[in-house]
Amino acid sequence: MRRIGIVKESAPGERRVAITPDSVAHLRAAGLEVLVETRAGEAAFFPDSMYGQAGAEIVDADELYARADIVACVDRPPAARLRPGTFVVGLLRPDPAYLAELAARGVTAASLDRVPRTISAAQPMDAVTSQENVAGYRAAVVAAHAYERFFPLLVTAAGTARPAKVLVLGAGVAGLAAIGTARRLGAVVTGYDVRPAAREEIASLGANVLDLHGEGGEGEGGYARAQTDEQQQAEQDELAAQIGRQDVVITTARVPGRRPPLLVTEAAVKQLRPGSVIVDLAAGPLGGNVEGSRPDETVVTGDGVTVIGAGNLPATMPAAASTAYAHNVRAFLGHVLRDGELALDPADEIQRAVIVAGLPGGAA
Ligand code: NAI
Repeated sequence: MRRIGIVKESAPGERRVAITPDSVAHLRAAGLEVLVETRAGEAAFFPDSMYGQAGAEIVDADELYARADIVACVDRPPAARLRPGTFVVGLLRPDPAYLAELAARGVTAASLDRVPRTISAAQPMDAVTSQENVAGYRAAVVAAHAYERFFPLLVTAAGTARPAKVLVLGAGVAGLAAIGTARRLGAVVTGYDVRPAAREEIASLGANVLDLHGEGGEGEGGYARAQTDEQQQAEQDELAAQIGRQDVVITTARVPGRRPPLLVTEAAVKQLRPGSVIVDLAAGPLGGNVEGSRPDETVVTGDGVTVIGAGNLPATMPAAASTAYAHNVRAFLGHVLRDGELALDPADEIQRAVIVAGLPGGAA
């Protein structure tokens, strides 16, 4: 029988855990023995005792890496800790340097950020989608909290509060989750995306669809394609005119393999009234959708506009994010395990996409 080890995440601020106690029983039923690193789930409100009750064995990190045949994690573990022959599954962000390290260790690695979105059988394994969904929800909640006025229309004896106007730029997984959440909180929501297909999805959530002239940006695999400088300038100018009418702007626009498009310029931020809030979910080391926003940084401009650069939002909702992620890991393991043994198949399209190192006969 194979043994799976659930590691305690080590990245700063990372509170998620790859497998939750309710998933332990499923893994055992699939023929796995389950080891859990001490306090692996503590930051997500899953204490060791819950794992113990579910039938897992609690061990320290050294024992885990020494005994586990399968290592389940959220973020990538140090390759040097993995024993040759280990099968590691996580959101590994595989870059050439890490892949080379894994190959040198003789490790087989499955990266759930590579789950093909166009194969419907792979949807339960799509960890990017499950985590982006959490991020979008959280972005709307963070925005509502920072706004310091009501989102809904409220009629009370003490007067009437008008509903907040929320604009969501980028209507992929996270954007749609933010739109749905802001709507449920009672805001008047408008959504915008360069992909024409997103228009219907925005409307189906009961939000207004923002029409700009430069749309038509659908690229490969349902993702947006990068714009020319002229297109981006036109988009920024048109958006600047819209942004001044909003109370809250949530940005989620990304283009695979590129720096996120700059959608909200400093001049557009200046259009907002004092007390307005911007949450930039695309903020990253290369910049975000909002001029000057940085991950995990909140700035209040001289004009009283709060600009929040989102960091790792799923890690700030670790119980929900871990529960969804554990389902993704289980679904993937269900796809590659037969009676508790790994049954790798390089002819399988999902495995070819997800297994980034060590697939026998595969490209990796
Ligand atoms: P993403 O994280 O790459 O980008 C977020 C959004 O930003 C996208 O909707 C994109 O069109 C938009 N965007 C990019 N540049 C923009 C610009 N200059 N202005 C305005 N918006 C801009 O996208 P995500 O969330 O990964 O979704 C990509 C596609 O994959 C979507 O069509 C989504 O519906 C689809 N998808 C399909 C799934 C399935 O069929 N199982 C699962 C998950 C996603």
